[in-house]
Amino acid sequence: MNFYHILKSAHSGWRYLVLILLVLAIITAIAGWLGKKPYTEGNRKLNVFTLIFVHTQILFGLVLYFVSPLVEAGIRYWKMEHIGMMIFAAILVTVGNARSKRGDDPSVKHRTIALYFGLALIVIVASIIQMTMVDPSRSFFGVS
Ligand code: HEM
Repeated sequence: MNFYHILKSAHSGWRYLVLILLVLAIITAIAGWLGKKPYTEGNRKLNVFTLIFVHTQILFGLVLYFVSPLVEAGIRYWKMEHIGMMIFAAILVTVGNARSKRGDDPSVKHRTIALYFGLALIVIVASIIQMTMVDPSRSFFGVS
């Protein structure tokens, strides 16, 4: 087990925390938006935690980018698509969280989170599915 393997496992496993938090935040936001519920401190914290976990995953990925033999080998998916799509998803989460702070209307706050986080989830899932097509030895729910 060297640094690369530890980092790869951390990045591989961390995806589940990111996916679970995103799904939870989106369901909570949709329930709050459609159910016209107040925007609580709990809602705010869940969204910030999701943001922090997404950013941590990006950090793992960025370091991995410089030590992974796959990037070194110049495989297009790892050099371009993975990093591009995942950073785009992180930007969506960051902007969504920032915009949810604007104004006082709880419905608008919930809707903002539901839309931005929802789009980010779609981008992440699409990128992981693409990964399993580029490299069939990897699976959506695998850990390496
Ligand atoms: C929300 C953001 C991200 C998610 C959910 C994510 C998810 C994943 C997943 C599921 C794998 C495959 C792990 C396995 O097969 O067990 C992976 C591998 C990888 N990721 Fe990410 N990733 C994210 C962001 C990034 C970013 C921003 C970078 C680069 C700057 C990056 C670089 C890599 C690299 C280089 C690998 C291949 C590691 C190897 O097998 O050598 N990731 N990522």
